[in-house]
Amino acid sequence: MPVISFANAKGGAGKTTAALLLATEVAERGKSVTLFDADPQRWISTWSDLPGRPGNIQVISETTPASITEQIMDAAARSDYVIVDLEGTENLIVANTLSVSDLVVIPIQGSSMDARGGAKILNLIKKLEKIVRHDIKHCVVLTRTNAAVTTRALKAVQENLAVAGIDVLLTPIVERAAYRDLFDFGGGLRSQDTRMVSNLDKAKENAEMFAAEILERAMVSPRRRWYDIFKKVS
Ligand SMILES: Nc1ncnc2c1ncn2[C@@H]1O[C@H](COP(=O)(O)OP(=O)(O)O)[C@@H](O)[C@H]1O
Ligand SMILES: [Mg+2]
Repeated sequence: MPVISFANAKGGAGKTTAALLLATEVAERGKSVTLFDADPQRWISTWSDLPGRPGNIQVISETTPASITEQIMDAAARSDYVIVDLEGTENLIVANTLSVSDLVVIPIQGSSMDARGGAKILNLIKKLEKIVRHDIKHCVVLTRTNAAVTTRALKAVQENLAVAGIDVLLTPIVERAAYRDLFDFGGGLRSQDTRMVSNLDKAKENAEMFAAEILERAMVSPRRRWYDIFKKVS
């Protein structure tokens, strides 16, 4: 089923946080998820070793540039969603993953507006589209935005990206301690203790809206569907 990858050539953009929020949201809706940890920093694998990982999320930590495409396709044939957390760089694993993704999500920090890493991925997508000869659907999600104010600056960023023809999610991922806690305590937002985590309800609501917008966009591309049919009959 759909392959959704998270890419930004810059570290610290919020890829791993966004990938984990999506994976846990999808799992909480009862769907199976294969979550690829394609970053040598292994944040997803570290999370996976903590208690509380939902049983319907399978984490794959071993990937190579030569094997990743096949691994992703095989995972797509057996699980409802495949989510790939990529390294903050441009390398062969990133390029190979983008070329088999049904949706590439590019997290960009809404506050600092350091969008250069995101722009690199947008350029890479353009090049890959020529090689694979189909559009690679992609969108930007603004991350670590201020909860207290929807700043004019944030609105301006959203509008500028929209004017440039880039699909930007209406829901930014807000800066929340609850999101950081997942990497310390494991599990998803629903398994956190309301008494211990501040603004957990707001974090849940934000994550739900973010996931809903992604899932709306994530549909298996027609080309991929043929691959699945081919796999079944071969
Ligand atoms: N929405 C958020 N709220 C709070 N902290 C965040 C949020 N997004 C990212 N962070 C923190 O910022 C740092 C970098 O985020 P991360 O998701 O690891 O980015 P990347 O995977 O792009 O390198 C981490 O310490 C993470 O906990
Ligand atoms: Mg990361």
